[in-house]
Amino acid sequence: MSEQQIDYRIIAKTFAGLEKVLAEEIRVLGGQHIKVMQRAVEFTGDKSLLYKANYLCRAALRIIKPVASFFAENEDKLYKEVKNIQWEDYLDIHSTFSVDGLTSFSNITHSKYLALKSKDAIVDRFREATGKRPSVDKDNADLRINVRIFKNNCTVSLDSSGESLHKRGYRQGTGPAPLNEVLAAGMILLSGWKGKSNFIDPMCGSGTLPIEAAMIALNIPAGKFIEKFAFESWKDFDPEIWQQIKNEAFDNIRENKIKIIGSDWSGRILQVARDNIKAAGLEENIELHPEFVKDVIPPPSPGVMVTNPPYGERIKMSDISNLYREIGDALKQNFKGYSAWIISSHMDAIKHIGLKPSDKYKLFNGPLECSYVGFDMYEGSRKEERPYRTKENQTSSPAQKKEFRSQRNTQARYSDRNQKSHGSNTRGPKRRPGNSRPTKK
Ligand SMILES: C[S@@+](CC[C@H](N)C(=O)[O-])C[C@H]1O[C@@H](n2cnc3c(N)ncnc32)[C@H](O)[C@@H]1O
Repeated sequence: MSEQQIDYRIIAKTFAGLEKVLAEEIRVLGGQHIKVMQRAVEFTGDKSLLYKANYLCRAALRIIKPVASFFAENEDKLYKEVKNIQWEDYLDIHSTFSVDGLTSFSNITHSKYLALKSKDAIVDRFREATGKRPSVDKDNADLRINVRIFKNNCTVSLDSSGESLHKRGYRQGTGPAPLNEVLAAGMILLSGWKGKSNFIDPMCGSGTLPIEAAMIALNIPAGKFIEKFAFESWKDFDPEIWQQIKNEAFDNIRENKIKIIGSDWSGRILQVARDNIKAAGLEENIELHPEFVKDVIPPPSPGVMVTNPPYGERIKMSDISNLYREIGDALKQNFKGYSAWIISSHMDAIKHIGLKPSDKYKLFNGPLECSYVGFDMYEGSRKEERPYRTKENQTSSPAQKKEFRSQRNTQARYSDRNQKSHGSNTRGPKRRPGNSRPTKK
């Protein structure tokens, strides 16, 4: 087995609520022994998978490679164990490194001290063996080392990403409350959308959701615009494997004729979205419209709407209720045949949408706990005809039954159209575009 094919433990970090979509991304890339953890997914794979996870996983914030785990009940044990790691495999005296420490519920109580003690152990190992030592560079290190200690259990890892992977490299500007790019991509993946039907965000702000949607639809690697990953400075970096991965990903970029639309009532914020879209090279793929949400007419169904409306921190309760009522009215009137997804930390406001959610996930937008709710907007659905009412026997009068049959026929026509234009499976009444998605919590 060549060195590059040796499998090791890898951990991909993410936001709470996105672990399962990330695990699915890793499974598709070939990860083995996948374990869903809190805000992380652990798996095994080789060097090539480590590079791919950095470059292609949309729901990952950071990819780390654990190199040692041990019990460290005090600083002497920590020093001894860190010094015992074969640092020559990862560093030489001409390399630079940095150590980031984080401690919780442990006898070593200060994160900075944890980092300092670990750094001393690494330096002493080199100095004792060679009389020389690698230098520390906090900002631009060749090797970034993480030391985490929880309940005295310590793990030492190498950070293969560098900057957080949400910094995709296309953002030129932001609006008042931009979505984190990883959260935006994770929301789209949670909705089950895979770029096979139209997409719209009617309150798109700086355009994060439409941009992430377009990158999914065109199969553009999440890391396409990232200039350098930390693993490119590693001692064992293999430029040939890396180039091959980038070439393959480039070959897999596809055309897509679906419509991806962003709209917002603010022309000023749409200019920011335009700049971001241009930086991502997606001007041809995303349309922007200045519009109030109540006036938005989406492209023909089937389609998916994903949006991140204001949560009301700076808005009066009556205004926020009105806004969410308007969103609900727009969905009922204009989004028939759509699956609609809304994230908000304002649980009361969500009720003003006036529709029963068919799906619900708990997510965090920064520190705010949010509900991410999905609604199925069936043809002909009205408030009293909730989207989840799909069975003919749930209707009672002959008139209702007749209307149900007509709705069902219309849905069948959409399914046919979907199948013809995208080659996807028939879209049954409870299915969203795309075939599989993780089970909800
Ligand atoms: C939380 S921000 C969206 C941020 C966006 N997801 C991003 O990543 O930049 C909410 C957006 O809704 C827009 N908005 C608020 N009320 C609106 C309305 N009635 N119609 C259309 N857009 C509205 C605001 O201008 C703002 O850009």
